[in-house]
Order: sequence, then structure tokens, then C-alpha cells
Amino acid sequence: MHIGPIELPNRLFVAPMAGVTDRPFRVLCKRLGAGYAVSEMVTSRRELWKSLKTSRRADHTGESSPISVQIAGVDPQEMADAARFNIDRGAQIIDINMGCPAKKVCNVEAGSALMSNEPLALRIVQAVVQACAPQRVPVTLKMRTGRCDSERNAVRLARCAEDAGIAMVTVHGRTREQHYTGQAEYTTIAAVKAALRVPVVANGDIDSPAKAQAVLRWTGADALMIGRAAQGRPWIFGDIAHFLEHGVERTPPHTADVRRWLAEHLHDHYGLYGDDTGVRTARKHIGWAVRGVPGGEHFRTQMNTLVTPQAQHQAVLDFLDDLADQYPRWPAANDERAVGAHSDTPPGDLEARRA
Ligand SMILES: Cc1cc2nc3c(=O)[nH]c(=O)nc-3n(C[C@H](O)[C@H](O)[C@H](O)COP(=O)(O)O)c2cc1C
Repeated sequence: MHIGPIELPNRLFVAPMAGVTDRPFRVLCKRLGAGYAVSEMVTSRRELWKSLKTSRRADHTGESSPISVQIAGVDPQEMADAARFNIDRGAQIIDINMGCPAKKVCNVEAGSALMSNEPLALRIVQAVVQACAPQRVPVTLKMRTGRCDSERNAVRLARCAEDAGIAMVTVHGRTREQHYTGQAEYTTIAAVKAALRVPVVANGDIDSPAKAQAVLRWTGADALMIGRAAQGRPWIFGDIAHFLEHGVERTPPHTADVRRWLAEHLHDHYGLYGDDTGVRTARKHIGWAVRGVPGGEHFRTQMNTLVTPQAQHQAVLDFLDDLADQYPRWPAANDERAVGAHSDTPPGDLEARRA
């Protein structure tokens, strides 16, 4: 699997998720089996580049190559400048966000809103590709299937983007209008794959090794991108890699290993955010980690009252120590959504075709 000239260790990618896939989380996912991770989106607005939020998002200290930064905006020149700025700060791949439906992005017609304005979308792609060419930095594009059911223009836009020099396209199998509701459909992703020469990545609702295999088979995609299913379960990348290679699911991790991974993640997290913000923003990661484990909900409520990193860290260690005594293997309930693991047609896709 390559992105332009850059070779990746495997085809399992971490989806960019604002407020989630910061550097500590990306590092953890890569350690546990992800071959590639894209940063949270960074705004193209120059006046915000020096803000604490953007500086943190552009922090790649200790992250293994390749460093990929996602940029979001509506002005081709600003987007080109943002690409250059991030390359100067270590980006080896630039990803253009045309997939995010968030209000903050879409109010200015950025993110997935750009899919409704193909001429502007293409001018952005051309400007960014041109800005990155001197440094030989590949540019990738993340998009949805279209604005709404009746306007699925992913294939047309992806083709034009490829002609303009895009090195890889990721498609989240939902329209902008869907936000995160309903189920992802994979037929449009398969059509994009069939239409392009550059690698295509399938994204949306991949939450188990079996579903990963079904989506790969259905779409013929070159790689898979996983977002929400990695929250609290960053070892899902290793699980999927194992299943794709051996055809059987591997046993859940040792609880002691999960304890160590989470402790290291928290340490890294406090280092990036500092004590106050670190404690607050770590709560969601801890909450996801203990979701579905015996006593997890009670622990999460208690843990949310702790206000220092030391207290939070120790509480996590103690809870997972006790859990390990009872459950040497990670006991989380199987919260995977029902999937058409062994059929040729993932269920979300069937629904979309009936519509
Ligand atoms: C909390 C959250 C934040 C997200 N932020 C971004 C973002 O910054 N850029 C982007 O392209 N997509 C963003 N997404 C979309 C994801 O990258 C992904 O396309 C989507 O979640 C579908 O994949 P999944 O079903 O594996 O989660 C975000 C999704 C979530 C849940």
C-alpha cells in the first residue's frame, strides 16, 4: 500500500476525528496495529494557526512516519498556504477535508459542503497539489458519497481530483445530509474504486474484523479507515489485521496489557494538554475504554469527579487491577453492531440499494 511514493506498513487506517485522534491517540493506534493515521483537521485560517488548539493539533513529536495532516477550509490560496505551513512543521502527507459535516466547518461551506460546489472543490485540490509538488508531498482527499441521496457525486469528484493529482481518496459511505445517522453504504465506494487508478479507502461503520473483511470484499478498496470503533479499543487494528491474515479472530487482549496501554496513553495525554485540560479531555478516552466492562459505568461516573491527573491515573490503574484479578482477558461486552459479516452484501448497502 502506497500513498504517492510513501510506503505504508499495512492498509488499516485511523480516521481523523476532531477531539479524539490527537497525537497520543494516533501513536497508540499505530503501536497497536494501524498502518497510518491522519491528524485531526487543522484550519486553513492563518489567524488561528498560532492558537493553542491548532498548535496542539500540529504537534507530531514522537509520532512515527508518515505524518499526515488534514486541512479544512474554503479558500484555495489559504488552503495552499496551510499545506505549506504544515509541511514546514513535519507533514509528509496533506489530506483535504471534504467529509466533515460539522456546523463549524460547514458554516463556511468547507468540509463535506464543498462536495456541492465542484468547481471550488477542484480549485482547492489544484491549489493544494501545486503547493505540495515542490516538496514531493502527496495530497489525499477525504469525502462523503455526496450531499444527499439524490446527489451522490463522489465518483465524478474523485475522478476530477485524480486528474488534478490527488494521490488517494477516502470515501465515508454516507451523504452529508446523513451526518452519522443510518448505515454507511458501500456501493458508492465500490464505484469510486472502480473508477480510479489511485488507491481508494473505504470508511464508515467498520467495527469488527468480519465487517472489515466484508467491506474489503464488497468494495475492492485498497485500504480501510476506522474511526469510532477504535475509541476505547485501539487494538481493533491488530484484531482486523490478524483476522485478514488468518481468517480467525484472535483472543481479546490481556487486561494487564490494556491497563498498561491506557496508563501510557494517559501519561502522553497529560503531557500534551497539561494537567487541567488533560484531566478533562482524558475522561472521554477512559469512558470509552471501560464501556461495557463489568463495573465500568459506575467507575466512569466516579472517575469524572476526579480533578488531578494523579488521582485520575491512579483510579484507572486500581480499577483495571481489580478487573484483571477477575478477568485476565479483556471482558468488554461485544458491542459490535450487527453486520453482514459473511454475506457478500453488507446490510447498510442493501438498504441503500432498496432506497
Ligand atoms: C468525533 C468525530 C470527529 C470527526 N472529525 C473529523 C475530522 O476532523 N475530519 C474528517 O474528515 N472526518 C472527521 N470525522 C469523520 C470520521 O473521520 C469518519 O469518516 C466517520 O466517523 C465514519 O467512520 P467510522 O464509522 O469508522 O467512525 C469525525 C468523526 C467523529 C465521530
